[in-house]
Amino acid sequence: MRAVFPGSFDPATQGHLDVARRAAGMFDEVVMCVLTNPRKTGRLPLAERLALLTDMTSDLANVTVDSSTGRLLVDYCRGAGIDVIVRGTRSVGDLEHELPMAQMNRHLTGIETLFVPTTPAYAYISSTLIAATAAPAYSRDA
Ligand code: PNS
Repeated sequence: MRAVFPGSFDPATQGHLDVARRAAGMFDEVVMCVLTNPRKTGRLPLAERLALLTDMTSDLANVTVDSSTGRLLVDYCRGAGIDVIVRGTRSVGDLEHELPMAQMNRHLTGIETLFVPTTPAYAYISSTLIAATAAPAYSRDA
């Protein structure tokens, strides 16, 4: 089965990598796909997000990296032959936000979403916090 792990990955974090690694153990292929989140202002250029993802996942043979400028994740899924959507969930707040999207995506395509609970050590890591506290390259506004 082919899964997509979509996200802004702005930047990708150890939490994302943890979810990707665990998903890689469950599916034949996992595509980490960079999408635009309309609720967020982009920081890193797409090329840098992809380069970081490629580097971080270099030891995961069945994880590939892609991007889409399409409006909806389901459009990408249809075009790429995706069977399952994978999303990491850190908290109840994450789930509250994710559930309606998962339900709508299934309504539109029949594609199920698998929620992967974050490993507790990564529960407080977010791209936003990394951007706010890490090297200047990750904190510039686009
Ligand atoms: O890493 P993020 O920012 O939490 O990722 C969110 C993302 C990009 C996966 C989500 O916003 C998304 O799927 N965007 C594409 C638009 C879409 O399909 N929205 C769901 C409609 S029900």
